[in-house]
Amino acid sequence: MKTVLIDCSPKKRMSASGFIASMTDVFLRGKREKEKLRVPADHARILEKVKDADNAVFSMPLYVDGVPSHVLPFLKEAEEYCRENGLHPNVYVIANNGFIEGRQNEPLMRIMENFCDRAGLIWKGGLGIGGGVMMNVMRIMITVFFALMLISLVLSGFGTAPLITFGQQLLSVLLLGCGIIAFDLRLAACINRGKSYGKHYTRIMVPSFVFILFADIFFTVLSVFQGGIFRGWLKAKKPETVSRKQAE
Ligand SMILES: Cc1cc2nc3c(=O)[nH]c(=O)nc-3n(C[C@H](O)[C@H](O)[C@H](O)COP(=O)(O)O)c2cc1C
Repeated sequence: MKTVLIDCSPKKRMSASGFIASMTDVFLRGKREKEKLRVPADHARILEKVKDADNAVFSMPLYVDGVPSHVLPFLKEAEEYCRENGLHPNVYVIANNGFIEGRQNEPLMRIMENFCDRAGLIWKGGLGIGGGVMMNVMRIMITVFFALMLISLVLSGFGTAPLITFGQQLLSVLLLGCGIIAFDLRLAACINRGKSYGKHYTRIMVPSFVFILFADIFFTVLSVFQGGIFRGWLKAKKPETVSRKQAE
């Protein structure tokens, strides 16, 4: 059995889609290949991998309540390619979104279901994850806690206390992701058996009011570093000028 996992995030690194695809990969049996879909140059390579695959797993972010625009030309090409070559792989989708409710991925699931229907692929279901960005926070937290444990181990003369603290910290991080891990395990079990998964939605295990508070703080800090406070609002706007040559 061969499974191709396609990370459809346009981010070069640190994408939540890539993280969840890698996690799913760990739970899968048989031959697995992980691919990144960012630019049109990726299309031919991915389609070649899908040619002899039993399963294609799309892992993607939700953009404006739908499939990211750079994925649409790929789907169009895949539709023609699969029809021409008589391919009918099973399709599973893992979608993650910025808002806390995983159910917001429902329109994306329907788009992918319709794509499968039209292209003759076998729709096997999908998992929608709310608060997807927290998956990155989780992996950063684990790395930081691990580094702190190593430092404490050296400073404490290799006592057991840092190990216990790290164990507690690891458990608390895993608790945040327990819904994601459980649903992903079930998805992987379905892929391994070629079974339908249906549609399931989960989220990061943080109360909504806490998530919204931290998201607001995070994006305010980010905008200060990347955009500057009020910079966009107060900057004098120049009208866009298009030369006659450009317009033609
Ligand atoms: C252009 C754009 C549109 C987005 N639209 C939505 C949206 O409609 N609903 C939502 O919950 N999150 C939305 N998000 C947030 C992403 O889905 C979220 O950050 C996701 O975790 C990114 O996944 P990635 O790291 O795999 O790229 C949007 C993000 C961008 C950049």
